Amino acid sequence: MFVESNVSLQPYNSFGIAARAQHLLRLHGEEDVRALLAHPQWRDAPKFVLGGGCNTVFTGDVKPLVLKVEIAGRRLVEASARAWIVEAGAGEYWHEIVRWTIEQGWPGLENLAAIPGTLGGAVAQNVGAYGVELQDRFESLDAIDLQTGRSFTLNAAQCAFGYRDSVFKHEAGGPNGLGLAGRALITRVRLRLPRPWKAELDYLDLERKVAETGIDTPDAGQVFDWVCTIRAAKLPDWRVLGNAGSFFKNPAVTPEQCTDIIAREPRIVYYPLADGRIKLAAGWLIDACGWKGKSMGRASVYEKQALVLVNRGGREDPVTGGEVMTLAKAIQTSVYERFGIQLEPEPVVV
Ligand code: EPU
Repeated sequence: MFVESNVSLQPYNSFGIAARAQHLLRLHGEEDVRALLAHPQWRDAPKFVLGGGCNTVFTGDVKPLVLKVEIAGRRLVEASARAWIVEAGAGEYWHEIVRWTIEQGWPGLENLAAIPGTLGGAVAQNVGAYGVELQDRFESLDAIDLQTGRSFTLNAAQCAFGYRDSVFKHEAGGPNGLGLAGRALITRVRLRLPRPWKAELDYLDLERKVAETGIDTPDAGQVFDWVCTIRAAKLPDWRVLGNAGSFFKNPAVTPEQCTDIIAREPRIVYYPLADGRIKLAAGWLIDACGWKGKSMGRASVYEKQALVLVNRGGREDPVTGGEVMTLAKAIQTSVYERFGIQLEPEPVVV
């Protein structure tokens, strides 16, 4: 077992923040986790699980032992009349899993194309885009308890998926009780791709593509290409301009709150939710407060999508996590003062 010391985390987070890990261990399989848990020096040390670092803001050096998940492997587990079930290692890149399943003729993940990060990270934050969330394609996962070394399997209900949320984003004993952040490590994930396949085109940007191209029965490869094009037009590529995707969640409000806001702001963008509440477009709220393109230090609001905060300092003179959070707090304050709405950050702040 080789624990690296004083490791730069800059290549391992999509903002390009130059934090360091005091100690870092790369995990390639379950056996590496077992070796760690048998090690007298490291077994009881506090631990931080890192996937692709695409939804993480480092505000300083990381003292807990960083477990960098690099578990690979992909296979078809089952093909029945009702679904294809595929399994992959938590360290596989999410977009490569999406591409691979479509190339193999197992469609269903195409709306989630071009989302950066690893499979484990995609599950932990229940990624979603263009009308589909990871939980809609989830079958089960294998994980290891980092205290006892016990392996266990969770189904969707046990993962407690929510909007950009799961049991893996919460610490044990947190406000909603059971949390597995820092306590369990996802090793393998199984995805269920339902048959017969049906294109999910119920999202304005995709409806526009259908109208533009005249293709009203696209195959999965076509939807995959559309989603890649739409994302590339709106969202910065983190390899060019560091960022962590949407920085805030879209807030859900009661119809009463919404009526009041709509009366004051008739152009506001909103969507009704199944539970009766109404989801407001956080990007619109931030944009309406005049933040698009604005900077504080080396942290900026992306000029094409106000929901995305970016690193203007590049790799040489990178933004700090503190600068990102200062800008985020200023945005939260101005949205609260104008609309009475508290925006909640989406990334994990370490
Ligand atoms: N809008 C503005 N100004 C802006 C940004 C957005 O007016 O600066 C308006 C848009 O015109 C549109 C509405 O807000 O009418 C919603 O914008 P968009 O369709 O771009 O989606 P979003 O709500 O900003 C969400 C997800 C994205 C996901 C897209 C597509 C969240 C927090 N974000 O963004 O997810 O890709 O929908 O489904 O739910 C991520 O989580 O990192 C992420 C990128």
